[in-house]
Amino acid sequence: MQWGRLELAPFALTRPERRLMPEDPMHTSLGEGELPAHLPVMPIAGAVLFPQILVPLVLTEAPLVELVRRAVQRSEEQLVLVTLKPGRTPEEEDPSDPPFYTVGTRGMILQHSDLPDGSIRLLLHGKERLRLESCEREDGVWIAAVEGLEPPAEDNDEVEAIHRVVLGQFLELLSAIPEGGEEMKELLTQIEDPGAFADFISGHLNIEVEEKQALLEELSIRHRLEKIAEILGKEQKVLEYGTEIQERLKDEVEKTQREFWLREQLRIIQKELGEDEDDVAQLRRQIEAADLPPPALEQAERELKRLERTIPQAPDYHIIRTYLEWLATLPWSLESAAEIDLRHAREVLDRDHYGRGEVKERIIEYLAVRKLNPELHGPILCFVGPPGVGKTSLGESIAEALGRRFTRLSLGGIRDEAEIRGHRRTYIGALPGRILRGLREVGERDPIFMLDEIDKIGQDFRGDPSAALLEVLDPAQNHTFSDHYLEVAFDLSKVTFIATANTLTTVPPALRDRLEVIELAGYTPLEKAEIAHRHLIPRQLEETGLPEDAATIPTETLDQLIGEYTREPGVRELERQIARVLRRIALQRVEEGREEPVEVRPEALTDYLGKTKYPQELAGLEDEVGTATALAYSPEGGQILFVEAVTLPGEGEIKLTGQLGDILKESAQAALSYVEAHAEKIGIEGDVFAGRDVHLHLPAGGTPKDGPSAGIALVVALASLFSGRAVRRDVAMTGEITLRGHLLPVGGTKEKLIAAAQAGIKTVLLPKRNEQDLEEVPDEMRERLELILVDDVGEALRHALRTGERDEG
Ligand SMILES: Nc1ncnc2c1ncn2[C@@H]1O[C@H](COP(=O)(O)OP(=O)(O)OP(=O)(O)O)[C@@H](O)[C@H]1O
Ligand SMILES: [Mg+2]
Repeated sequence: MQWGRLELAPFALTRPERRLMPEDPMHTSLGEGELPAHLPVMPIAGAVLFPQILVPLVLTEAPLVELVRRAVQRSEEQLVLVTLKPGRTPEEEDPSDPPFYTVGTRGMILQHSDLPDGSIRLLLHGKERLRLESCEREDGVWIAAVEGLEPPAEDNDEVEAIHRVVLGQFLELLSAIPEGGEEMKELLTQIEDPGAFADFISGHLNIEVEEKQALLEELSIRHRLEKIAEILGKEQKVLEYGTEIQERLKDEVEKTQREFWLREQLRIIQKELGEDEDDVAQLRRQIEAADLPPPALEQAERELKRLERTIPQAPDYHIIRTYLEWLATLPWSLESAAEIDLRHAREVLDRDHYGRGEVKERIIEYLAVRKLNPELHGPILCFVGPPGVGKTSLGESIAEALGRRFTRLSLGGIRDEAEIRGHRRTYIGALPGRILRGLREVGERDPIFMLDEIDKIGQDFRGDPSAALLEVLDPAQNHTFSDHYLEVAFDLSKVTFIATANTLTTVPPALRDRLEVIELAGYTPLEKAEIAHRHLIPRQLEETGLPEDAATIPTETLDQLIGEYTREPGVRELERQIARVLRRIALQRVEEGREEPVEVRPEALTDYLGKTKYPQELAGLEDEVGTATALAYSPEGGQILFVEAVTLPGEGEIKLTGQLGDILKESAQAALSYVEAHAEKIGIEGDVFAGRDVHLHLPAGGTPKDGPSAGIALVVALASLFSGRAVRRDVAMTGEITLRGHLLPVGGTKEKLIAAAQAGIKTVLLPKRNEQDLEEVPDEMRERLELILVDDVGEALRHALRTGERDEG
């Protein structure tokens, strides 16, 4: 028999305007009630109710339904919830050995309603921990004498320190949630009381019931937090090392579910609070205060009248009310109206971001034009670059520099026009689109509105979101933006939109036309180290709650951290790794009482972070016949790629594997033709082609590859194969080839060079016609790499193939 089926209410999309924290005074006044000496017992199977947590339950079993009815009548809507011991049933009646644990949580019944099938739906709010002193059966129901349980006195500093460690861990886990972890983050950061915090997290952990019960029974807040830290630590490991995709997916789903729960809880509390007031009067006041433009005001009046005529129990009532709430809370006329101060803007940009001189200059220029000509609606700034290079954070800085609010909408995977423009009110659960939702969130009509990942916007039968986006961005149309839900026009012309993308190739051309593109390349290791020193380490020290001088990470350690524990164009993973190191230090301070500052030596990194994650690709590899090293570039950054060639008996066919795209396949054909045609010049002896097939493979077969820039590496691999001369392993190359053997220029030079240096390459062959790119190659890269510009294949072969005796191949 299953006791207490959990029921999920429909997903709450509304963003709560008012957050209620567990320690919020309004929250605790939700019918706190005195603790009576006796309470009816509700045993539940497979779940533990923690203080701070709200649970909706649907009860179908007659005795439980009866129990709730009785609780509602006789004990001021209170119960004690306890968890059934494994293998026991609630029908057992021996008072000397009740089938449940004797530590439980007082549950206040916030809502109860009868369902047509005789079952009952409940909303319970977990109050304090209780011990069940003695239990008796009365008319088939357990009644227990209860006593409140208080935490022992503890060292506040210690508790606070471990509180922060746990918070850090949890936030890190949350950052694995692709969308919307923000709200939970904010909520968690605001729970100040460590005990409440521990209970809140416990309620959302995905662990065995016995473990949960142990957490409930643990009265020491410190020990409770330590147990949680251990559990989260395990979860982190799973997340990091878990290789089975299945496991990963499961984790993700569970996290989204937790996230869902939180939203749901907030929604319910809000509803609870909201219902006490006189809706219509309150809404009317709000609408008056919101200074609506005439058409919107007329609409609001009409709807207010409708609301007055509707009884609160009618389904329509909530629909109208929600609609009016939207009208009342949108920033129709509220704005920051801040003046543009270029000097201040420059200071803020410099303070928040290291380097990027050119980008900052262009931003300042853009702002200067805006200042001179506020009415001019210029192009939309668009930051293009690989992940983690500071696109979003530059947007935030711009907002701060201008004294504007900031909001962000991720367009990744948005396929439905209604996401941008809302659903008509006739839909159940309809809401305005994300543009208006974002504006309500910031509460001002002139924010910086970042449209993230415009390159990932989708399109299908539900309409084309990029068309709606075009209207949003078009100054000729956006002062009367129409949202399906709102029905009345909203003026978006004061909003400053900034877009970001990893690549421009997938941005619809009409959209691209509106954008002023600023490219942000990946960082070199030196730049990363500098960013870490100035920004990431100080920030993470603060987040971990460590004093500023508690830990230093010298440059040589950072170099190793960057080279061997991260592989990314940006600095996001680097920041995560720094955070991990600092958290371990924080934990040592708490557990071992260490006070002295720690200097993190390179040798100590394995202790903090485990084995190197990314050993250099070239380490331990020898020169080989038939294997060349190409440099590739994708929106995620640069990377080295091996090209392997072998020959086998056949009819002169070419076989290609490694998930290659059409362009790459064609360049392989061209490469083979070139090698055959110029065999003699290359130094290929005899008729080696007849009766042979060629098999070309580009490892990492799981990743699709395409583009013409591997052309030269394909030629080198084939020339090596047929001539028997090995390719120098520390030479990497990039360049498109023509059938006549000329090299054509290719893109992503800087990213490719950074990847080459990281992989341990010594020499890079680049097409001569990429020469102008070298200007933007930092000195640091020139020092680490020998860059050779080559005009044709012959030259490239001279540098790439080993001279001297022939190898076996
Ligand atoms: N030049 C820099 N100086 C200081 N911090 C930086 C710099 N560049 C990036 N960062 C930091 O790196 C982190 C990641 O940056 P951000 O989130 O802005 O990346 P992004 O380019 O938006 O990536 P994505 O494409 O994945 O959204 C942020 O914490 C940001 O502050
Ligand atoms: Mg971003």
